[in-house]
Amino acid sequence: MTVDLLLGLQWGDEGKGKIVDILTTNYNIIARFQGGPNAGHTLVFNGMKHVLHTIPSGIFHEKAINLVGNGVVIDPVIFKNELIKLDEHHIDYKKSLRISRKSHLILPTHRLLDAASEIAKGKAKIGSTLKGIGPTYMDKTGRNGIRVGDLELEHWKKKYRALANKHERMIAFYKVDLQYNLEELETEFFNAIETLKELTFIDSEEYIYQALKKGESILAEGAQGSLLDIDFGTYPFVTSSNTTAAGACTGLGVAPNQIGEVYGIFKAYTTRVGSGPFPTELFDEDGETMGRVGNEFGATTGRSRRCGWLDLVALRYACQINGVTQLMMMKGDVLSGFKTLKICTAYNYKGETITHLPYNIEAENVTPIYTEFNGWSEDLTTMKNDSQFPKELNDYISFLEEELDIPIKIVSVGPDRKQTIFR
Ligand code: GDP
Ligand code: IMO
Ligand code: MG
Repeated sequence: MTVDLLLGLQWGDEGKGKIVDILTTNYNIIARFQGGPNAGHTLVFNGMKHVLHTIPSGIFHEKAINLVGNGVVIDPVIFKNELIKLDEHHIDYKKSLRISRKSHLILPTHRLLDAASEIAKGKAKIGSTLKGIGPTYMDKTGRNGIRVGDLELEHWKKKYRALANKHERMIAFYKVDLQYNLEELETEFFNAIETLKELTFIDSEEYIYQALKKGESILAEGAQGSLLDIDFGTYPFVTSSNTTAAGACTGLGVAPNQIGEVYGIFKAYTTRVGSGPFPTELFDEDGETMGRVGNEFGATTGRSRRCGWLDLVALRYACQINGVTQLMMMKGDVLSGFKTLKICTAYNYKGETITHLPYNIEAENVTPIYTEFNGWSEDLTTMKNDSQFPKELNDYISFLEEELDIPIKIVSVGPDRKQTIFR
């Protein structure tokens, strides 16, 4: 068997949670491989909305194993809160959750460092979710981090103290006004660690190897999106992990030749939350409409998301980097009612027309070149199959399939599980 991947192709929030939840019926194991509680994955079914941050989106299916892989960074406090929410729905997560011993822990001081760094940056801030992601990955690559497996060792608290003390000195170095009560934060943290320890820690790469050998199927659930990738995203306005296909190999311990399908998921338009360049961003009524109709508010921070037209230059780039084999287009319903729709098909880059993503996509270098499409007025949210689609939507979809040379297999027409059309 192979490991299939589901990856966001834009700046995150494409609707990964919804689709992973739906696809879970086809898989034995759902695995997160990078990121951490900066993610907010929304699932809607039976009239209820659930938001997951660290826990894989297959958790509501009784039969699937949900694995938090070695590439993920875990904040025990946020993780515990997620478990409490699952308790309300009587989810037997002790049976279905597994955590890699090699995943790293986000300490309270990592969160404080994130905040101090952002304050110090002022206007140049990344717009981080302030969950401590950057500082935790810095400690991972700096070889100072604390891993879940350390919790099984006797003296891990000594290691914790040394690292937290070092972080406090680093926070002071920033010379910013950051008020905090570490004692309170630590009480909460150590309580949450006890909850985490009730779960099953595993050597996940071996677990995956054996699962594949037995013929079990695995779906790797990406967090964030390709344009937030530490290497290929709009650096430095990115997250601190590889959100692209290669990240699944290192974040789970699977070899490249074990990757099967690569599902690439994108919104029918574009959104971004936090700072950084966004060539097709709209500052007019159209952008405001997308935000309002699409309810574009961050699932983790509640911040309003910036909105704009679909950027095919960036989308093509993401498909290339990831080796996408199937596409899923989300939130098509949000575009109902626009008289004209636009897709950015090329950039004017320093006076030249280009169709690849250049090194720098800041507004002073890049102006989007658009192709216009007729809009549709039909409400898509109650449609059950693609034979009901208006011609203009079919034209929009066919154009993208031709340009990207990849089939769009799912068109999502609303947040609910049921509002999903397979093609
Ligand atoms: P993720 O981070 O990729 O899992 O996406 P988020 O959960 O952060 O954001 C996607 C938002 O869009 C959530 O509020 C979903 O409930 C919602 N959503 C997903 N698919 C659709 C869709 O097809 N139409 C509409 N209107 N909303 C959708
Ligand atoms: P999901 O998985 C959208 C953005 C932040 C910020 C930048 C760095 O729900 O799609 P970080 O906290 O990682 O240091 O923030 O990345 N960001 C996301 N934007 N969806 C996400 O996750 C995101 N995770 C991080 O807004 O601009
Ligand atoms: Mg999200």
